Amino acid sequence: MQKFGHFDDAKKEYVITSPRTPYPWINYLGTQAFFSLISNTAGGYCFYKDARLRRITRYRYNNVPIDMGGRYFYINDNGTIWNPGWSPVKTELDSYECRHGMGYTIITGKKNDLKAEVTFFVPQNYDGEVQQVVLTNEGKSAKTFKFFSFAEWCLWDAQDDCTNFQRNFSTGRVEVVGSTIYHKTEYRDRRDHFAFYTVNDTIDGYDTDRDSFIGLYNGFNDPQAVVAGKANNSFADGWSPIASHYKEITLQPGETKTLVFVLGYVEMPADKKFEADGVTINKEKALAMIDKFNTPEKVAAGLAELKAAWDKLLGIFNVNTPDDKVNRMVNIWNQYQCMVTFNLSRSASYFESGIGRGMGFRDSNQDILGFVHQIPDRARERLIDLASTQLEDGGCYHQYQPLTKKGNSDIGGDFSDDPLWMILSVGSYIKETGDWGILDELVPYDNDASKAKPMLDHLTVSFYHIVNNLGPHGLPLAMRADWNDCINLSCFSDTPGESFQTYTNPKFAAEGGYSKIAESVMVATLFTYAGPTYVGILKHLGKNDEAAKAQAEIDKMKKNVMESAFDGDWFLRAYDANGNKMGSKECEEGQIFIEPQGFAIMSEIGKEQGADKKTLAAIDERLNTKYGLVLNNPAFTKYYIQYGEISTYPGGYKENAGIFTHNNAWIICAAAYAGEGDQAFKYYSEIAPAFNEEISDLHKTEPYVYGQMVAGKDASRFGEGKNSWLTGTAAWNMVAISQYIIGVQPDFDGLKVDPSIPHEWDGFKATRQFRGATYNITVENPNHVCKGVKSLTVDGKAIDGVVVPAFDGGVHEVVVVLG
Ligand code: BGC
Ligand code: NOJ
Repeated sequence: MQKFGHFDDAKKEYVITSPRTPYPWINYLGTQAFFSLISNTAGGYCFYKDARLRRITRYRYNNVPIDMGGRYFYINDNGTIWNPGWSPVKTELDSYECRHGMGYTIITGKKNDLKAEVTFFVPQNYDGEVQQVVLTNEGKSAKTFKFFSFAEWCLWDAQDDCTNFQRNFSTGRVEVVGSTIYHKTEYRDRRDHFAFYTVNDTIDGYDTDRDSFIGLYNGFNDPQAVVAGKANNSFADGWSPIASHYKEITLQPGETKTLVFVLGYVEMPADKKFEADGVTINKEKALAMIDKFNTPEKVAAGLAELKAAWDKLLGIFNVNTPDDKVNRMVNIWNQYQCMVTFNLSRSASYFESGIGRGMGFRDSNQDILGFVHQIPDRARERLIDLASTQLEDGGCYHQYQPLTKKGNSDIGGDFSDDPLWMILSVGSYIKETGDWGILDELVPYDNDASKAKPMLDHLTVSFYHIVNNLGPHGLPLAMRADWNDCINLSCFSDTPGESFQTYTNPKFAAEGGYSKIAESVMVATLFTYAGPTYVGILKHLGKNDEAAKAQAEIDKMKKNVMESAFDGDWFLRAYDANGNKMGSKECEEGQIFIEPQGFAIMSEIGKEQGADKKTLAAIDERLNTKYGLVLNNPAFTKYYIQYGEISTYPGGYKENAGIFTHNNAWIICAAAYAGEGDQAFKYYSEIAPAFNEEISDLHKTEPYVYGQMVAGKDASRFGEGKNSWLTGTAAWNMVAISQYIIGVQPDFDGLKVDPSIPHEWDGFKATRQFRGATYNITVENPNHVCKGVKSLTVDGKAIDGVVVPAFDGGVHEVVVVLG
């Protein structure tokens, strides 16, 4: 088993020491509007707000080799050609290191006494990527070498860019002024934005036409201009515009030269797009951007500002537990990943192409659960954007594009779980901030301002969307799918190409498009888990009748679940469209599913009959593996037309018995809730990336972030991770560790502290900023229990219960003794 680097916790960095990682290990730059993906060899691309509609640089997915295309610097040192990040030339370096930090990446390569250290970051409130190259001659004699930069422009709409060549090969346009190359494709016509790539020094040449720079029969690994050691001063006119600077550099022994590059994006108002000639682009804003980062001092200040911003964000919640790996996940990487998933939903990663999906309704609502404490104002804005795409009956568009913020009608709605996540996300926002005002905010339905209603109304229609769509057992209709996109109970697809998510069989047309028999137990338990948040809100507002009415629906649902959906030792998964049980002992395959179990336990369904402990035991016996809990067991080995996509995956992958780490968190929460701190922690540590660092060669994906999926026990590649970065796993594991295991959980009336930890822990410390106050929390565990607060004091005064009141500022000492 092998690692490919190590954590540097003091710097909040992961240090990669070999460029040959088992998969590209990436980082994200930018958290506001301009975003870049960058791999450990500087592959990747950037975009403005929307990875599909405003793609700035080009990237080819599923390439050979896998990670080709990026911002590349080439050095031709008397015929030895190399890149600081090893790829794409792949000349063996004398030393290599990549440090992925909070919003920045530093790649350092050394060859024949020449060292190149490149720092990449997107500064705060800045629409561009800054790249600082520090070249040092560490040898004993002078060195003269040729230096080239390289970026390939995308023609803005990334989908069109990779399909519509008959047009696109004739539209590319650039302008070159001094050391700045402007990408102005379509700017004359109907766009108000352009991009530029600049360097803070004179250059000895440039290229803007890809084929001139690379050569039609060469590759990124041997661009002909670099091989020839000189630029062509090519001017792109159609074909593929690029931006490459060329400079000959001489360094004396010990001498250093620093170059600062900026790859920026600019939007201009329609009447200011051009200079007087109506052709030359108005560079006013671009020049101001360039001026902001044209010296190493300004770069240092920008980087320091970025680091300070991250220190502040990560300072909101901090733990000091007996386990370094927990500390590193909670204090650094899990929170960092939550920011990334909050920003990008499931749009752009090395597994999501940026053209496939925008912001998912269920995904983004869940992402808020792990992010809300970082920047509550941004969570608020997102909640309003999401709710604005909701329909008046409580149904939801399943996705929206971040640029237009409009519901995506290609995918439509009718995913049965969608509305419920909004109750949880709005609830978590209010619990975090105490901002009840959000409920009065007028929020459109279907993006139509004339249909605006207060946010509270959106929660009401969300809640009743479930209640109004029940099946024969009084359980929620499954519709197209619930959280599990691959359980498609109204699909019955037998024709290639039908999308499991959007196709429903015409036989259900008369019933309104989907089966009125198929029911989701998962949505039932999600309803009983999320419903109390809605009730809590109503009670707080003094709407007691409405609260009682809603509570009655929750109680009824619990009863229905116990009557029709408890299989004796665990909860069923669904009733299919034929009225048959799914996820039951009676089934040949797929006898137990993970999804309904955690929410059922946390809703205390059947607790008095011991359903919670029985279910936890069944999970441990049937679903657990050393790398996490599989989604279902036994895996499906044939196609079940009545179930849909789930049975199309080979056993052990994705939704068919893969270890879907997102829903592992629900079990971690549930085990902790039920007082089983050891069990909760066992599952937590099976999947938390830092715990899998030692098996990086098997695990493959980054050891600092969660992936969506690890191959399950039925797969030949058991333990291999995929789909890293953009997954609800980030938010839910943040919730699981911080709110359920560490047990610091914002509540409507204060901060609840109710840990459920491994019994060996002597205790731990945590700090939490909450509604303007700081809580220094000390938990002592003298009797080595998992759960149970024996005493709780705040500033020396004992408190009844486990909720610490919200204070108006100040620092407060909270001491909790378990026992
Ligand atoms: C995947 C799901 C995904 C869905 C929607 C399915 O093929 O297995 O995880 O959510 O597609 O894109
Ligand atoms: C990935 C999707 O983004 C998410 O919404 C879904 O719940 C899971 N796949 C499970 O199918």
